[in-house]
Amino acid sequence: MNIQALKQETDQLFPQIVQWRRHLHRHPELSFQETATTAYIEAQLKDLPGVELSRPTKTGLVVRIKGGHPGRRVAFRADIDALPITECNDLEFVSDTPGVMHACGHDGHTAMQMALVTLASRHREELWGELVCIFQHAEELPPGGAAELYEAGVMEGVDELYGCHLSSNFPTGTFGVRAGALTAATDRFDIKVLGKGGHSSMPELCVDPIVTGAEIITGLQTVIARNIRALDPAVLTVCQVSAGDAYNIIPQEMTITGSVRTFSEQVRREIPVLAERIARGVCAANGADCAFSYEYGYATVVNDEALTRGVEEGLAGWFGPESILHIEPVMPGEDFSALQKDCPACFVEIGTRDAAKGTDKPHHNPAYRMDEEGLRFGAGLLASILAARLGGK
Ligand code: NI
Repeated sequence: MNIQALKQETDQLFPQIVQWRRHLHRHPELSFQETATTAYIEAQLKDLPGVELSRPTKTGLVVRIKGGHPGRRVAFRADIDALPITECNDLEFVSDTPGVMHACGHDGHTAMQMALVTLASRHREELWGELVCIFQHAEELPPGGAAELYEAGVMEGVDELYGCHLSSNFPTGTFGVRAGALTAATDRFDIKVLGKGGHSSMPELCVDPIVTGAEIITGLQTVIARNIRALDPAVLTVCQVSAGDAYNIIPQEMTITGSVRTFSEQVRREIPVLAERIARGVCAANGADCAFSYEYGYATVVNDEALTRGVEEGLAGWFGPESILHIEPVMPGEDFSALQKDCPACFVEIGTRDAAKGTDKPHHNPAYRMDEEGLRFGAGLLASILAARLGGK
C-alpha cells in the first residue's frame, strides 16, 4: 500500500468522520440498549464493496473484509455506548436525550473505526489477510459487551487485536503508548457484619456491628501494606459504610463496600482471600457473623511488546516520533481486556486535550467535550496499523 496516498485519503475522510461522530453524539444510547446506534453503523457501512456484516449479540456488530491475498486476521475494536449523564454543553449537536450523553468519547471511537472500514473496503484487493472490525456495545456497564462478544466467538482465529481510547489527559496530536499493563483491573467487595442490636445503654446484651466493622476497616489497611509486594501496585479503598438509624440503638448490622485496583492477575486473586480472612476473623473474635462477597470487574489491559513497537514505528512514520508519549498505566478500567485472552493486543490512548478549545475537561463529566481534531490523528493511527499489518510488504 502506498502510505502517502493512504494518508491523503484518510485526511479526506476527516469531514465524514466528524459528521458520523456528531450524529452519534446527538443520539446517544445506554449500554446494552444501543439499537439505533447499531442500525446507524450498519446502514452507513452495509453497501460498501466487500464488507460482511454480522450481529452476534443483540446490539453491537462485526464487520469483516477479506483481502485479495491470504494472510493474518487482524481485529480492531471500538466501543459504541454512552453514559447516564445529562449533557451540559452548548453545541449544535448536543445530546437530544436527557439523561444520556456520549461523555467518554465512544462516539469518536465508532466514527474513526467506520473510517477504517471505508478505507479497507476501497483497498481490499491490496490487503493480505482479513480485517475484523468489532463495534462493541456496553463498555461502560459491567459485565460489559466485550465478554459477551468473546463468548459469541468473534475472536476465533484472530491473530492480533487493536483498540484505542480518546483521552483529554493528553494533548491533541499526541498518542499515549505503553508496552505491558495499561489499565487497572477494577473489582468490588461487600462485607456485611451481622451483629445483635439492642439498647445503647446495655452493650453487654448486644454484639455491636459498628465496633466490629471499624476493626475490619482498620484491618483491611494491612491487606496491601503488609501482604503485597511493594513493587506490585495495588489500591484497596473502603468507599461506603452504613449502619444504624438512631443515636441510642445499637444496630443489627453494618455494611462495608469498597473497590480494589490492581495490575497483576496474581495479586488480583490474592486480595479477596486476604480481605475475607480479616473480615471473618474479626467478626469471629467479636461474636458477629460475616457475609463477604467479591465481584471481579474488568481485567487489566496488557499491551504486547512486539505489537506496541510496531504501532510506534507506524506512528513515527505517519505523524513523527514527537507524537509518541510513553505513558504510565491509566487507572480507568477497560473491558477490551475480555477480548484479548487468546491473542496479542495493543491499546493506544489518543490525545484530545486543547485548553483553548475547552476540551480539557475529564471524561464522564457533563461538560466533557472532544477536540475533534484528535479524530484525524486517531484515524491515522488505525490506517497506519492497517497498512503495516495487512498491507503486505
Ligand atoms: Ni470510555
